[in-house]
Amino acid sequence: MNGTNDIFNAEFSRQYDASSERLKDMSNNLHALLSLLLRDLPAEAKVLCVGVGTGTEIVRLAKLYPEWRFTGVDPSPDMLAVCAEKLEREGLSDRCTLIEGHVVDVPEQETFDAALCLLVAHFIQHPQRGGIYQHIADRLKPAGQLITAEIAGDMADPDFDGQLKHWVALQQAYTQRPRDISEVKAELNQRLLLLPPRQTGVLLREAGFASAQPFFQSLLIHAWQAIKP
Ligand SMILES: C[S@@+](CC[C@H](N)C(=O)[O-])C[C@H]1O[C@@H](n2cnc3c(N)ncnc32)[C@H](O)[C@@H]1O
Repeated sequence: MNGTNDIFNAEFSRQYDASSERLKDMSNNLHALLSLLLRDLPAEAKVLCVGVGTGTEIVRLAKLYPEWRFTGVDPSPDMLAVCAEKLEREGLSDRCTLIEGHVVDVPEQETFDAALCLLVAHFIQHPQRGGIYQHIADRLKPAGQLITAEIAGDMADPDFDGQLKHWVALQQAYTQRPRDISEVKAELNQRLLLLPPRQTGVLLREAGFASAQPFFQSLLIHAWQAIKP
């Protein structure tokens, strides 16, 4: 598959939550909104978390919605190990199942009221990129919803560098290390696939979602709510 386990290795996984602090103000807003968008799910909803990482999304939602159950899938055993410890600490293990792998490794007979795919899709290159939305759609019940948040942008657009400048300033403020914009752009190009936001809307519709509403943008992080017919 796309091989990101070299990034999400043991060392990185252990410090992932601490380093995510730099995005705290943006992610608090994203999480508050997605909790709101999911408010009408059934009381005993089943939620699939794709690229669950260290389980931040599970912990936040599980506290708000005490009867929901969660399945987290992730190819990185190291991220899942941190996630499992955190769920245990929070007393949530009995409401959660963790699967090492990709969406296709989630048992086919399992269907979900909602799926979250937060900060994952930008790691997926062409031609698999549309496939992840398709595989998620296959696991949703009718009228189920997907919330996807990803780093996006049209790198060919002259305005992109303006956004990137603020993104780099945010990283610099956190690390206290000056970063060169062209170096950051080269890194983004090398490890991630940023799509222009409208293209993600197209891919979501091609995967069979009836609507794909953008509901959030904070610098380069964009998010959509997509509903299965
Ligand atoms: C930046 S982390 C996001 C973790 C968590 N969703 C969050 O918002 O904190 C990205 C995660 O996606 C996982 N990942 C990478 N490629 C994936 C794929 N094709 N399918 C599912 N997960 C993937 C990585 O192992 C990593 O744990």
